[in-house]
This record gives sequence, structure tokens and C-alpha cells, in this order.
Amino acid sequence: MEYIPGLAGVPAKHSKISDIDGEKGVLYYRGYSIEDIAENSTFDETCFLLFNGELPNKNQLTEFKKNISKGREVHPDILAMMSHLPNNASPMHVLQMSIALLSEFFPALTEQAEGQYSLEQQHSAAITIISQIATLAAAWERTYNNSLQGFSVTDKDYAANFLYMLNGNEDPYMIETLDKCLILHAEHTINASTFTAMVTASTLANPCSVITAAIASLSGPLHGGANRAVVSMIEDIGSPANVEKYIDSRLKNKEVIWGMGHREYKTKDPRAKILEKMLIKLLGQEKTSSIELETAKKVEEVCEARLGEKGIYPNVDFYSGILYKEMGIRPELFTPIFAVSRTAGWLAHYIEQLQNNKIFRPTQIYDGASPRKYVSMEQR
Ligand code: COA
Repeated sequence: MEYIPGLAGVPAKHSKISDIDGEKGVLYYRGYSIEDIAENSTFDETCFLLFNGELPNKNQLTEFKKNISKGREVHPDILAMMSHLPNNASPMHVLQMSIALLSEFFPALTEQAEGQYSLEQQHSAAITIISQIATLAAAWERTYNNSLQGFSVTDKDYAANFLYMLNGNEDPYMIETLDKCLILHAEHTINASTFTAMVTASTLANPCSVITAAIASLSGPLHGGANRAVVSMIEDIGSPANVEKYIDSRLKNKEVIWGMGHREYKTKDPRAKILEKMLIKLLGQEKTSSIELETAKKVEEVCEARLGEKGIYPNVDFYSGILYKEMGIRPELFTPIFAVSRTAGWLAHYIEQLQNNKIFRPTQIYDGASPRKYVSMEQR
């Protein structure tokens, strides 16, 4: 038996949802390139595509959006629970807690405990969860800001509604920017959190538990938490002049550079390229310059010189945090926004997993103590 650390390169399933060519730096959702989808689609349509495998026609999209928007209202008891949490609670923890609790308020989400869900029930659960998760993230933001009064859901498209719920912003350019961010983060083959979702789904756990587990996995800085770590790093560096010294010191100490490197890509992540352009466009729109962007570009340049031969280039998290910051979103929300978006991919994999389920149960290579006799307390 050969052990492969981190299961690098080990296929965990057959999938039809997304595909990456890490050498070429390309990503496809259901066969459509990420550039094409980001340019032409919306997050609502992308969810339909990920869940169903095909782009919707006009009627299908209208129906899908109607179903998503009518399931947005969050149960008042969940809002009441949020109001009892410490104000500095991590939004990722609050999201985990509230998604786990959803199953208590939507009995249909737990019926699977008695057996396998039908495909129709799986899709219906997916719609419920994707509808609720944006409201849950926004409701905590409003609770945190002490602005829950007057908080309301709308029947706008997903990104427009999410931004409105978060901070009341209705600027069309900001909505378009958030919409593209949601699309870009929606799905990415078998990354750590998606694998977590698949493993949890394979036990026939209810879909809220599947998403709760995936959120926990996403939260770490080696995965979705990196977007926040990048912004802290860029702020610590301060200006382009300090970049070389900072990077060299981190590399000397064997510390990673946040937002750099990827298990699959050996070139710049195609999503990072799009996010960088979006950031430049946003700054142009606002006619401002950004010391963060200038510092990040210098980090990219220095990392290319130091790490390029190892295939270490910017990943999706490198520019997204800086973009969110420019949009006026506080850093604690960067990873929860990623979670809202990636819920689309997690749910698509949840549905796919159940079509041909086999519980995940890998093996191990034991290298612990040989069998031995129990030693009594007096003899230790
Ligand atoms: N900064 C500096 N060096 C890095 C690096 C980074 N961000 N990412 C990888 N490397 C180096 C490793 O030190 C290793 O070097 P070595 O072969 O000389 O020992 C080599 O590149 C391979 O890295 P490895 O850790 O084996 O890659 P991985 O596939 O296991 O890890 C990540 C992938 C994403 C976890 C890793 O690149 C990382 O920690 N990146 C920073 C965190 C981040 O941005 N995560 C978000 C991912 S979307």
C-alpha cells in the first residue's frame, strides 16, 4: 500500500460538475469556461447549472429564482438566538450554528434520516439552503451592527438581495461585482471543503449537516480563510517598498505567503486573473488608487521570482479580499461570503454523491505500537 500525503492526485469520485486543468490554468463549470460564465451568467443561473447540469431556459430560470426568493425569510427564533451571541462571535461560527439549526425549522430537511432522499427532495433541500444561507450571513452582520431593526429580505436577484441585506447597498456596479465574485467562488472540484461535504453526505447525514461540516472545513487559512489572511498580510507589509524584505523573511522562516499556491494550479489561478481585473475596474470606477493593490502586485512579482519555478502563483484568495475591502465589506465577512457562494458547489456535490452513494471509509497504514500488555497504574 502506498500512502499519498493529502491524497494529492488521488481520485475520490467520478464527477460531472466542474473540471480544472492546472497546467493550462483553466476551470470549467459543467463544460463552460469560468471566463464565459463570469462574463455572461448570474449567480442564480450558475446555481441552476451546478444543480441541474444544464443552463436553464427562460421559464426554468424564472421558476428557479422565484423558488429561491420565496425561501429567504429566516425563522425569528434563529434571529433571536443570534441576538444572544457575543457581539464579537466569528461570523463563520454563527453561520455553522445557524445552518445546523435550519434542520430543526424545516422538517423536510431531516426526513432523510429514515432513508434515502428522492432526487426531488434533494433539489428542494438545495433550494432551501441556498435561499437561507445568504439571509443567515446577512442577519448576523445586521445583528453585529445593531441594525437588525428594519432588516428585510427582497425578491431581487441573489447578489442584489444579498448586498442589500448586508448593508443596504443598491449600487448596480457593486451588485454586478458581488454577483461575479459569487460565481467565481461557487465551485472548484474536490477541494477540502467539498470533500468534507461529500464524506458527510455519504453517511446520509441531512443536508444541513453536510453544509455545516463543509463550512468548518472552509474556515481554515489554508483554504477559504486565506482571503482574510491575505488582507492582513498586505496591511502588515504596508507598501510596495517593504515587499521583498517581508517575503524573504517569511520564506526564510518556512512560512507560507497567503493567497499563493494551489494543489491543482501550477500557473496563475484563472479566477485570480478575473478578480484582479475586477479590482482594477472598481478602482477606476471610483477614480481612486489603492496602496493594497500596488502592494499585492509587488508581492505577486516577488513571489513569481522566488516561487515561480515551484508553480506557486496567486490563487482565488489573493485578490478577492482586497476587492471586498474596496467594496466596503469588513474582513470578518470575506470567508462567510465565500461560504455562501460555495454552498452552491457543495450542494451540487451532495446531490451527485447521493445518486451513486457509497460511504467513504478509506484505510490507513498503521505504524503505532505493536500489541502489548496493559500496564497497571502502579507499574507505570
Ligand atoms: N508560500 C510559500 N511557499 C509555498 C506556498 C506559499 N503560499 N505554497 C506552496 N509552497 C511551497 C511549499 O513550501 C513546497 O515547497 P518545497 O517543495 O520546497 O517543500 C511547495 O511549494 C509545494 O507546496 P505544498 O505545501 O506541498 O503544496 P500543497 O498542494 O500541499 O498546498 C496550499 C497547497 C494551497 C495549501 C499551499 O499552496 C498554501 O499553503 N498556500 C497558502 C494558503 C492559501 O492561499 N490557501 C488558499 C488556497 S485556494
